[in-house]
Amino acid sequence: MCNVILMNKEKLMQKIVEEIRTCKKCKLYQSRTNTVPGEGDLNTKIMFIGEAPGAREDATGRPFVGAAGKLLTQLIETMGIKRDDVYITNIVKCRPPGNRDPQPDEIYSCLPYLKRQINIIYPKIIVTLGRHATKTIFEIAGITFRSMSNIHGNEFKGKIDGKHITIVPTYHPAAALYNPNLRQILFNDFKVIKELANKGYKGPLDYFIQKGDR
Ligand code: URA
Ligand code: SF4
Repeated sequence: MCNVILMNKEKLMQKIVEEIRTCKKCKLYQSRTNTVPGEGDLNTKIMFIGEAPGAREDATGRPFVGAAGKLLTQLIETMGIKRDDVYITNIVKCRPPGNRDPQPDEIYSCLPYLKRQINIIYPKIIVTLGRHATKTIFEIAGITFRSMSNIHGNEFKGKIDGKHITIVPTYHPAAALYNPNLRQILFNDFKVIKELANKGYKGPLDYFIQKGDR
């Protein structure tokens, strides 16, 4: 039974990855080298959503593989798990030229892919990284966005495509690279994320990613 569900999830995600690979729904397709659909465990409890691929992500086709990605990986490991145990993706799947912010038309063109990914994984917690990802996810979940300093590290309940979803916004790891205060805040927020992921689970903490245990 479990394998059947697994296979369907993989197939559904593979279909999305293939659609993204040839996608021309917004102008970002013109300047991309590779699309960056996302990667990780489809049965994870925690899904991370960043803003957009950068230079290294565009060159490799993988999310968060640059300096910010290194910090994100470290933060994930403070929860006693590995990067492979979670799913990591971005709001837009193609790199905006010169790392500019993704524009509203690009975000809205790309959102159907992200919504399908969220539906397949249906994680216990969505962690939004930075203001852009948070604003977009709050909007589709029907939650009012206030400033990042007010909301980071807190739990918000919303609905995406009719499904209840818990969102924890935090700062973007790139913003914390040269800012020790923000770095500390990020590490603190990840303690909260770990506790929330563990809520209701009575076993050893380092096994908190129990597949299927929501
Ligand atoms: N920053 C992001 O928002 N996403 C990435 O994949 C890399 C850097
Ligand atoms: Fe398609 Fe998204 Fe890439 Fe735009 S950013 S071309 S919508 S995959």
